[in-house]
Amino acid sequence: MYDINLQEQDFMPKTPMSKNFIKWKKEVHIKVVQETAKPYYEDETKRFCLFNHDTLKFLDLIQPGSIDMIFADPPYFLSNGGMSCHAGRRVSVNKGEWDVSKGIDETHKFNLEWLRLCQDLLTENGTIWVSGTSHVIYSIGFAMQELGFKILNDIAWYKVNPPPNLSCRYFTHATETVLWAAKSKKSRHYFDYPLMKKMNNNKQMQSLWSIKAPGRDEKLHGKHPTQKPLELLDRIILASTKKNDVVLDPFTGSSTTGIAAYKLDRKFIGVDKNKEYLELSKKRFESEALQGVNT
Ligand SMILES: C[S@@+](CC[C@H](N)C(=O)[O-])C[C@H]1O[C@@H](n2cnc3c(N)ncnc32)[C@H](O)[C@@H]1O
Repeated sequence: MYDINLQEQDFMPKTPMSKNFIKWKKEVHIKVVQETAKPYYEDETKRFCLFNHDTLKFLDLIQPGSIDMIFADPPYFLSNGGMSCHAGRRVSVNKGEWDVSKGIDETHKFNLEWLRLCQDLLTENGTIWVSGTSHVIYSIGFAMQELGFKILNDIAWYKVNPPPNLSCRYFTHATETVLWAAKSKKSRHYFDYPLMKKMNNNKQMQSLWSIKAPGRDEKLHGKHPTQKPLELLDRIILASTKKNDVVLDPFTGSSTTGIAAYKLDRKFIGVDKNKEYLELSKKRFESEALQGVNT
């Protein structure tokens, strides 16, 4: 069991300590009672923790009802030999073994499974955001409906400067959908309406967000093929969490979510099954969050 957000008084164990109990410190807000749940990386304050696991296995180790907000950018399952355009050059869309499609039924089964685990982890009023393209977002939306989430918004993220469409047989793909949902129909979700309005020149913020794809300054330490812009995550975190809330990203990649969360004084847990992306996360965190580069 992985227990988050403990107060000092919570550190008195009520039952004899498990043999595998490996951490128990006054200022630690995370208690790990299984060797397998050892972080791959954590900062001194334990507010930025990365785990190298398959998310489907790892999420079961987190205490149910302990997460305030989840941002998930799951595999799009679009790496099937197609081509795209990057910096004026024809490039393969293959992102890695983790993004290869196993067919629509398997994709939907996978989406149902991780979404069900995430739903259990959310607090009663907690919310989840999931980003995706047409390859995956309909399955995600349907799975959310099947599981009884309350869909709050479907944000159209307009990428402003998308790569051109090389085949000239389609419109240029310029948007991605970000679904925002609460744990259940009974949830009373948190929304910082005044702040969103203030950030939008004192007009109600709409569900169309124009945000550029991450620039070079966010890719100084290497590239993740589907890295999200910090501005997108800043907005999501500010809209739906308070300071010290616990944010989870079950497909953390280069940890854009974690860097934004840390800089905004939230606590972060990120999971990825690929070590190379966690190494990139670590470098980004040490430079962009700890050193304050890009702030
Ligand atoms: C779309 S990318 C996320 C990118 C991230 N939002 C960013 O800004 O860098 C999805 C990530 O999920 C990871 N992944 C895919 N399947 C996984 C699984 N079953 N368990 C854990 N991580 C997984 C991949 O390694 C990949 O880094």
